[in-house]
Amino acid sequence: MQSGDIKNISKLLSPLIAGASQVYAESSNTKSTFRKFFSAKNTAEDSFFGLLKDANVRPIRPVLNNLRIFKSEAEVKNMRLAGKLSGRAYTNAMRQQWTKEKDLCAYLEYQFKAQGCDGSAYVPVVAGGINANSIHYVRNDDVLGENDLVLIDAGGEYGGYITDITRTWPISGKFSSPQKDLYEAILKVQRASVALCREDANLSLDQIHRLTEQGLREQLKEIGFDLRGNAMEVLFPHHVGHYVGLDVHDCPGFPRSGVLMAGQCVTIEPGIYVPDDDRFPAHFRGIGIRIEDSVCVQKDTALVLTTEAVKEVVDIEALRD
Ligand code: GLY
Ligand code: MN
Ligand code: MN
Repeated sequence: MQSGDIKNISKLLSPLIAGASQVYAESSNTKSTFRKFFSAKNTAEDSFFGLLKDANVRPIRPVLNNLRIFKSEAEVKNMRLAGKLSGRAYTNAMRQQWTKEKDLCAYLEYQFKAQGCDGSAYVPVVAGGINANSIHYVRNDDVLGENDLVLIDAGGEYGGYITDITRTWPISGKFSSPQKDLYEAILKVQRASVALCREDANLSLDQIHRLTEQGLREQLKEIGFDLRGNAMEVLFPHHVGHYVGLDVHDCPGFPRSGVLMAGQCVTIEPGIYVPDDDRFPAHFRGIGIRIEDSVCVQKDTALVLTTEAVKEVVDIEALRD
């Protein structure tokens, strides 16, 4: 491959494209000069898509996804570190009583770096009380109620690799009875679903999603929920997980219907978000809980990357003893 001045990119690429049997490309529409050149909207003669008009163009995304979906040992090493360091940051945040979402957010992001991560992998969700029911809550500017739970979805990045963690814990350090009943119901199912992330379970993320939903149904019925109609769609409105790695939602477009194989990394993140709706038991209304771990699929075991973020009720409560 010839090197040269970016200003001459069309002249440099033109003979390469003319001589290629296939060109793998992805369109993008952002504003840098470099990106503008590659924008699908730019069809000027000397733009990338202009140059491609006679070429056999194939989408590059599936090719990249096939390369990215299996993590090498070196990649898993970085993901283990991202998980371990971020997990420690979470546990440190849980040791203290917080009064504002913004203080807790700032502390956690500081802790990601202090523990050795390069920084946050994405904008954290720090959602106290009912704010947890807004799945993509990122305002992180409310006060925290002493009797509420706080849900945090955040993760650090290490050497280009990220981790994705959600923990939900009581601001006071001690779960109320309804908070504990709902938390333990979700945790039981989350643990079971995490354990299915091994190649010999022969399951896809979509199948694990369906099993998780079934598990949640059973648990919720046991603690008094009426699940007729669209109750489960309201209470558990998202997929159980996604691939994770270089991006938080890694390998975009890679199907979740394929059986999980060793070397793939995924999240398992069941959540229940109870709206203020009188068809659900009064003592659960307004509670939102999600528990999320990042997991590396192995032949006969699920390697959980985020165990340093404690999640058992006794372990969370013991942090304030
Ligand atoms: N942090 C985004 C997600 O859990 O999918
Ligand atoms: Mn996730
Ligand atoms: Mn997450």
